Amino acid sequence: MHPLDEKRIRSFQRRLLNWFAREGRDLPWRRTRNPYRVWVSEVMLQQTQVDRVIDFYHRFLKRFPTVTKLARAEWEEVLECWRGLGYYGRARNMMKTAQAVAIDHRGRFPRTAEALEELPGIGPYTARSISVFAFEQDHLVLDTNTSRVIGRVFGFCEEKLKLRDALMQHADAFVPKGKAWPFHQGLMDLGATICTAKLPQCECCPMANICTFLEIRDTKPEIRNRKLKTTAKRITCHVSRVTEVAAAVIHREGKILVTNRPRGHLKGYWEFPGGKRERGEDWRHCLKREIREELGIEVAVRPHDWKETYAYPDRTVHTRFHRCSILTGDPTPQEGQRIRWVTPETLTTLRFPPADRTIVKALSQARFVDPHR
Ligand code: ADE
Repeated sequence: MHPLDEKRIRSFQRRLLNWFAREGRDLPWRRTRNPYRVWVSEVMLQQTQVDRVIDFYHRFLKRFPTVTKLARAEWEEVLECWRGLGYYGRARNMMKTAQAVAIDHRGRFPRTAEALEELPGIGPYTARSISVFAFEQDHLVLDTNTSRVIGRVFGFCEEKLKLRDALMQHADAFVPKGKAWPFHQGLMDLGATICTAKLPQCECCPMANICTFLEIRDTKPEIRNRKLKTTAKRITCHVSRVTEVAAAVIHREGKILVTNRPRGHLKGYWEFPGGKRERGEDWRHCLKREIREELGIEVAVRPHDWKETYAYPDRTVHTRFHRCSILTGDPTPQEGQRIRWVTPETLTTLRFPPADRTIVKALSQARFVDPHR
């Protein structure tokens, strides 16, 4: 069996729970423990992305608020609610399940994974997820995303199809007792937003200091696999490089300018325009230069209002945030980046790098006031 270090597992659990408490997504099915609602969400999420599911979830529950109502419905009515979600077999199976719950269980979902799995139309994955998300039982629930996260952190080298089986052999070890609910929600969020299949954002990952994958991420695939077999050890983090960054909070008519990183690490994240300070360069001069290069405008730069130091796994970034106002020109992306003007309240809905999160929060709470308003 794969070597697993008890201390590392504890650290993994702690990091995940803390991260989820801070960064977890507020999704409608996380506001309930009603097994019917949890089940509806789980079935919808099986082949569909979270953001597409949300509207369907609300609409479906409005039309069929209880399992009994669903059990009594005509197929055409259910189909009407499901149209657009695809994989209609899911909806057909749901009707069978609903009828079994309504008739054989008097409208109440059984509480254990074993009993849930006995229901027609419910497989092992859905049974376990309902038992965790509705009844908070301590099972391990693995889908492609959650398997990838655990597999990477602990250095499992199995191919995708075998990975789940390999992890299941340690099922009891991974789940923190009594905390299966936030543990799994956190795993799902980490897999969906940071530890993604194609472009993992290891710089922002709460597992960066203990992750096997991060240590060998940039090696060739054949070497990576060999290393994964032997590298299940704790990774130490060497914070060696320091980067200094000047960032601009540019206000206009109550809105703030943000730009989206078009490439490299943190690709797709929103940020405040700006860039690296050159050795010995004056901070405000640096920011004027960066904004000219990035957006083709001239700005007036105030002394900085905010400083932030953030330790990424491979470097520490010191950022100074300066309020700026436009002197000449209209911001025009010079480097292929997307730009947006957003209200302070909207900032919190965008994905920013961790180094920017304190100022984003401050701006959204208007603790950092627009001088021109
Ligand atoms: N996919 C399956 N279950 C999920 C959940 N509870 N949250 C987000 N994505 C999911």
